[in-house]
This record gives sequence, structure tokens and C-alpha cells, in this order.
Amino acid sequence: MLRPKGANGGVRPPPLYNGVMDDLLAWRTKFPILGSSTYLISNSLGAMPRGAPEAVQEYTDAWSTEGVRAWQHWWDLPRKVGDEIAPLIGASPGSVSMHLNVTSAEATVASCFDFSGARNRVVYSEMNFPSVSYLYKAQESLGARVYTVPTHDGISVDLEELLDSIDDDTLLVPVSHVLFRSAFIQDAQAIAEKCRKVGAFLVLDLYQSAGVVPVELDKWGVDFAVGGTLKWLCGGPGNAFLYVRPDLAIKLDPRLTGWIADQRPFDFIVNDHIYDDGAYRFMNGTPNIPGLYAARPGLKIVTEIGIENIRNNSRRQTFMMMQMAASRGWHTTAPEDPSWRGGTVAFDLPDAYEISQELIARAVLVDYRPKSGVRVSPHFYTSDDEIQRFFDEVDEMLSSRAHMRHAGKAHMRHAGKVDQG
Ligand SMILES: Cc1ncc(COP(=O)(O)O)c(C=O)c1O
Repeated sequence: MLRPKGANGGVRPPPLYNGVMDDLLAWRTKFPILGSSTYLISNSLGAMPRGAPEAVQEYTDAWSTEGVRAWQHWWDLPRKVGDEIAPLIGASPGSVSMHLNVTSAEATVASCFDFSGARNRVVYSEMNFPSVSYLYKAQESLGARVYTVPTHDGISVDLEELLDSIDDDTLLVPVSHVLFRSAFIQDAQAIAEKCRKVGAFLVLDLYQSAGVVPVELDKWGVDFAVGGTLKWLCGGPGNAFLYVRPDLAIKLDPRLTGWIADQRPFDFIVNDHIYDDGAYRFMNGTPNIPGLYAARPGLKIVTEIGIENIRNNSRRQTFMMMQMAASRGWHTTAPEDPSWRGGTVAFDLPDAYEISQELIARAVLVDYRPKSGVRVSPHFYTSDDEIQRFFDEVDEMLSSRAHMRHAGKAHMRHAGKVDQG
């Protein structure tokens, strides 16, 4: 069922019109912020569904009325949410554990391995999200040797060059499925195959793909995958997920661990760890219960709509943006070929930072990244009219120079950074 239950007919039809688009726009009523802003920033923080505050209220009600007895249903919540994420990323039930952020999920993966032997190379690209590189660079003190594949065009990573870099000494390949700067989609299946051939392990970062680009972890033979709910899954911050290939999971004993990962947590045994057989094997301490509550309404909506429907509309809208940019002579830092383009189009305009600030001041929510430009990310709830509004506002600014009132403030990004990823 694609249409939301109880959606009213008060949604304005887009200029480009088809049945699926109509059904997608009916979901707009479920996202309050769409009534007050043009929300084009789902690559950073997906819009909050109306159900999220209700879910958080459910959590506080349980805390308030049940007290400690609430753990009877809270205990299983990470497992339930992991199993709700699994079908969205082509994973089997029981293969996804919940964590606080991608860094801690990647740290759990790294803690399964020993970097002191000959196979100690970590291969990723210059286009990775930096939080991942902080973690692996820090493993150099334990013997890891980080190799960074360069980008030659600032948009993509050459597949052959990446595959050639994965050699017999390579232990881990922590790379993004969709690159955060350019939305370039990497060929995860080819990378997984090369890893398998040489005995390395792929750790695929799905943060910029899960919820907007189809992912088939089991089918592609991916070893590990990480990601989170706050972007395209509309589940808010505080929830990252970790997938481990089921036949591999059982052989791994993470050193970043804790009592939740024990088969007998309530025996409170000191100094004798028997790892859980399922997803909890990769968890550690007390989970983020309010965050898990908040995530479920977004996951439910994305599941109900279906990734294929979201992807088809996203391809159509990013294509539209590429064409509108080309007709204005704007430079984009997104792949030309829609098959390799994720959900974001970045416009590398002169004074892009200032333009992004003026857009935000006009309630057109976007973000700015160095070497990328103004990043614009429509999602299933975005109308074509809103995309048109983005172009109209920028056209107006480029002629009035209104955005230049923000000139000289770029350095303040570091002090008052308000957006993410
Ligand atoms: C590709 C990618 N990986 C990871 C992150 C975030 O990592 P963490 O959860 O450690 O903050 C982001 C953005 O926030 C991202 O775009």
C-alpha cells in the first residue's frame, strides 16, 4: 500500500504528474516541517514524521507508568528495529545490531581484527566520510596501514584503481556505498567480489544509500555494513546499524563488547564472556531506547512506500535538477549518469556557501560542503514545485546578489555548525 492511511486530498499536484508521484505526495501530510519550509536536506537529516513525537511519548509513558518493568519490552527493541531495517538493505532477519553512531559501529568491526600481522592494510578512498577515516587512522598505532585511493575528478572513485588497491595484504575495505560529497554510487558488488577473492573484508557505509537507493547486502556478498536512521530513513539521530554477514558473524569476537553481547546477561558473570549467537553479539552496553522509539515511524513509512518507488522518483527528480542546472550553465558535482547518481545533486556555484545561507534564511533548507557546493536532496515527500522554488530563489539571488550579505561568515561554520553529513 503506497498511499498513507488517512491522507487527505489537500496536496497540490506537481507539474509533472503520474500515479506514483501522486501517491508519494500524499505522504506530505505526515511531515509537519513541509508546511513551513522547502525541505531539501534529507542527505543530512530526514524530515521528522508526525508519528515520532507520539512514539517518544509512548516511551516516556512506559518509563513513567511501568518504571523498571518497561525493560520487559525495551530489551528486545534493538532486535526489533534491526529487523525492521534488515529488509530495507537486503539483509536477513537477525543480522543487524543497533549502535549509537557509525563510528562506534565501525569501531566494533575494527575490534574483531588484529592489525599486528602481515595482513594489516586498510583501503578506502579520499571521498569517504571523515568520521570513518578518524577511526582507522587511529588504528595505525596498533599496526594498521591505511591506504587512501585518490579521486581524480572530485566526484567519483575509479573502480579499477580501487579494486587494484585491494591486495593480499588488505584486511579491511571501509568504503561508502554512496559518496557524501557527490552522491556517486560505488559498485558494491564488484568491491565485495574483489574482497572475497583476496581474503579482505568489505565494510560498506550505507548512510547515504539506505532509504533512497536499493541495497542488496546478502545478494552482493557484503561482509559488514553500517549506516544510520537520521538521513533518508527519517528516523532521527542516535541510531546507527551494523550488519554482519551471518556465516561470518558467528566466527567473530569483538573486543569492543559488553554485557548486552553475552548469552547470559542476567547471570551477571564477571570475567567469562560467552558471545550471543545473534545480532546482540555485536552490541555492548545499554542501548539508546528513546532513539529507537523515535526511529520506528520513519522506518515504517519508508517500508510501506518501498525503496524502488522512492528510487524511481529520486532518479526522476535528480535528472530534472541536472537538466535545470545545465540550462543555466551551472556546474554540478554529481555524476551525469543517473545509474551512478544517488539522491543528492550538489551545485558548485560561485559563493556557494553564501547562497546556501541565504537559501536557509528563506526557509529553503539545503547545506554546503567544501569541494562539493550547495547540496540539494529531495526525498519522496518533495514536490517538483519545491525543486522549482530552489531554482527560482537562486536565480533571484544571482541577479540581486542578496546572498552576499553572508560574505565573510564562512569561518563561522566551525563555531556554529548546525548540519551534518
Ligand atoms: C557516509 C557517511 N558516513 C557516516 C556519517 C556519520 O558518521 P557518525 O555516525 O559516526 O557521525 C555520515 C554523515 O553524518 C555520512 O554521510
